[in-house]
Amino acid sequence: NEIYLQGFGGTLPLCSTDATKLEDSAKELLGPGPFSYVAGAAGSGATARANRAAFDSWRIVPRMLTGATERDLSTTVLGTKLPGPVLVAPVGVQSIVHPEAEKATARAAASLGLPFILSTASSTSIEDAAEANGDGPRWFQLYWPSDHDVCASILTRAKAAGFTTLVLTLDTWTLAWRPSDLDQAYLPFLQGEGCAVGFSDPVFRGLLEKTPEEDQPSAILRWIGMVTGTDHTWDQLSFLREHWDGPIVLKGIQHIDDARRAADEGVDGIVVSNHGGRQVDGAIASLDALPEIAAAVGDQLDVLFDSGIRTGADVLKAIALGAKAVLVGRPWVYGLAHGGEAGVRHVLRSLLADTDLTLGLSGHRSLAELTPDDLRRV
Ligand code: FNR
Repeated sequence: NEIYLQGFGGTLPLCSTDATKLEDSAKELLGPGPFSYVAGAAGSGATARANRAAFDSWRIVPRMLTGATERDLSTTVLGTKLPGPVLVAPVGVQSIVHPEAEKATARAAASLGLPFILSTASSTSIEDAAEANGDGPRWFQLYWPSDHDVCASILTRAKAAGFTTLVLTLDTWTLAWRPSDLDQAYLPFLQGEGCAVGFSDPVFRGLLEKTPEEDQPSAILRWIGMVTGTDHTWDQLSFLREHWDGPIVLKGIQHIDDARRAADEGVDGIVVSNHGGRQVDGAIASLDALPEIAAAVGDQLDVLFDSGIRTGADVLKAIALGAKAVLVGRPWVYGLAHGGEAGVRHVLRSLLADTDLTLGLSGHRSLAELTPDDLRRV
C-alpha cells in the first residue's frame, strides 16, 4: 500500500521494484568491477541462467473465491517464528558495494525481523555486525578455517555476539573459475576487504609474525589460505558440533544423497543452493534439486532454498515445492548499492509485499496451504 500510495502522490520508490531494472541501474551505479563481483557467475554462466529458467518452468495455478483477504506470511524455521519466509543470504565483502557494508544490511534486516546471515568473508567484524543488528535475529555463515584453533575462536566469538545458528557453506571450499572477476582483475580481497573476521580474531593474529596493520599482504594471503583450499569431509562435522551448541545448517546441498546424509548426521537444516550459480558451471538449477530433496528429508530437518529468487512468485514456487523459507542474495545487494540500509529494506519489503499479494491472488491465506499441487510444470 505504501508504495502504491507514494506513487499516486508522485513519489518514486528509492530504486526499481523490478528485479531486472534494479540490476541494470546497479550496473550503472557500481561500474564494471564491483558490479561483476555481485552479478558474476561461474564459467559460462549456465548454472545462473538455469536457476532462472527453472522458475519459469513452473507456473502457479490460482484458485478463486477462497476468502484470502487476510493473509499470514509467517513461517517457522528452526523452531523460531519469522514474520516472512525470507532470510538475508550471506554475502561477503559488502564494502565493495557500499561504505556501510554489512552494518547497513544488518540494520535493514533487523528492522524487518528477518534473519541476517553474516559471511566469514565479511568486511565488518563479527562484533560490529552484531552491534548494528541489535535485537534482530542473526546467523553466522562459516567458511571452515583449516586451523582448528582459529575455527574454534571464530565460533566462540559468533556465539558470544548473539549469532544463534551456524550456516556451514559446503560448495565454496575453493573459489570457482569466474571469468567476470578474472577479466576485471578486480581483487578486493587483495586490498584487505573481506578479511575483517580474521583480522579481528586474536587467535589468527597470534599466528602472524607481523600484525595485519604492519604487513597487510602477508596477513591477507594467510587468511585466504586458511578459509579456502581445504575440502573437509562428513566425518569432520563432529568438530563443529563440539564447538557450536546451537542449530547447524548446511548450505550448498544439491544431491539427494547429500541431503539424506545431512539428515543422518542430525543437522538441523539444509539450504538447497548452488551459490547463485557461482561455483559449478553447468550444474543443475537449484530449483530442480528442491522437490525430491524436500520430499526425502523435509520431515527430518528444515529445508531452505536459494539461487535465483527474484519475485514473490519465485518465493511461492519454492515454498510450494517444499522449502520452509528462502535466502535471497543479489537483489538486496543491488538495493545496498542504491541506498545503503534504506535500499536493502526497500528491496526486502518489496519482495515480501509481492509474495503477500501473489499468495492472496493465488487463493491462499497462509504459506502452509501451499503444496506442489498449486503448481504446474510447463
Ligand atoms: C554470495 N554468496 C555467498 N555465500 C556464502 O555462503 N558466503 C559468502 O560469503 C557469499 N558471498 C556472496 C557474494 C555475492 C556477491 C553473491 C551474489 C553471493 C552466495 C549467497 O549466499 C546465495 O547463495 C546466492 O546469492 C543466492 O543466489 P541469488 O539470490 O543471488 O540468485
